[in-house]
Amino acid sequence: MNDLDLNLQNTVTALKKSHYGTAMTGAGMSAESGIPTFRGPEGLWTKYGEPDDLGYEKFIMDPQKWWEARLNEDYMPEMKKALAEAKPNPGHKALTRLEKMGLIKHVITQNVDGLHGESGTTQISEMHGNNHLLRCIECEARFSYDDISFSILPPLCTSCGGYLKIDTVMFGEPIPKSTLENIKKEVGKTDLMLILGTSGLVQPAASLPIMAKSTNNAILIEINPERSALSDFCDIVINEQTGTILPRIVDLLAK
Ligand code: OAD
Repeated sequence: MNDLDLNLQNTVTALKKSHYGTAMTGAGMSAESGIPTFRGPEGLWTKYGEPDDLGYEKFIMDPQKWWEARLNEDYMPEMKKALAEAKPNPGHKALTRLEKMGLIKHVITQNVDGLHGESGTTQISEMHGNNHLLRCIECEARFSYDDISFSILPPLCTSCGGYLKIDTVMFGEPIPKSTLENIKKEVGKTDLMLILGTSGLVQPAASLPIMAKSTNNAILIEINPERSALSDFCDIVINEQTGTILPRIVDLLAK
């Protein structure tokens, strides 16, 4: 048996033994759906530079000005186009199968593309928000763009009247409280975590696998063509693409 087959077999055994498997996903999970990652040679931050931490502050200082600029700008057009056109890839679909099999109970994603939900996964925490939604800065209610009037700016929450922002978490913005609390609850139960397509460089996401390891001695399994900042903490590291490997894991489980 070669190293890859052994790692796949060990992953299948660990999934079968686990009681509460979760997955944490990053941009690499959607790379095979045509959405660019942030870091690495083709990454958005490599091309445009990583934004400063003032994004949220700028919104709070003048939400009307922020929205006026937003509705007229053409920032990162390749990301906008990719997000509008992307469809779930075989990795997303395999993760949905793992949920249906009862082996993955919750997916924590840093991605804003909504592709886990579109694929059919039901238990998801979108840690950095969802690009297709708006969120009230007061009550955290979420809305689709179609349900909100933009005739006055900033648009207003139809539940409480608070200002609406994009649901995507901005630089310098805390993760919404209810989302973070739910994620911590999920991590507290996790005894196996799949770490899929993330560089593990952004907090608090990068700490979640370590929390699961220190709380429950969770088995950590990484799938990523490159080594990440989390690789050294993992029990199994598979240096391959999620769109190839997750379907193979599902096939092995189904045998
Ligand atoms: P990164 O761009 O930092 O990392 C993407 C990871 O995906 C890298 O480790 C790649 O090696 C890996 N990768 C590429 N193709 C892959 C494939 N087909 N299968 C599996 N892995 C693959 O993206 P994130 O870790 O998600 O935050 O970045 C975290 C956060 O940084 C993002 O959510 C974003 C950014 O600033 C916000 O916008 C708030």
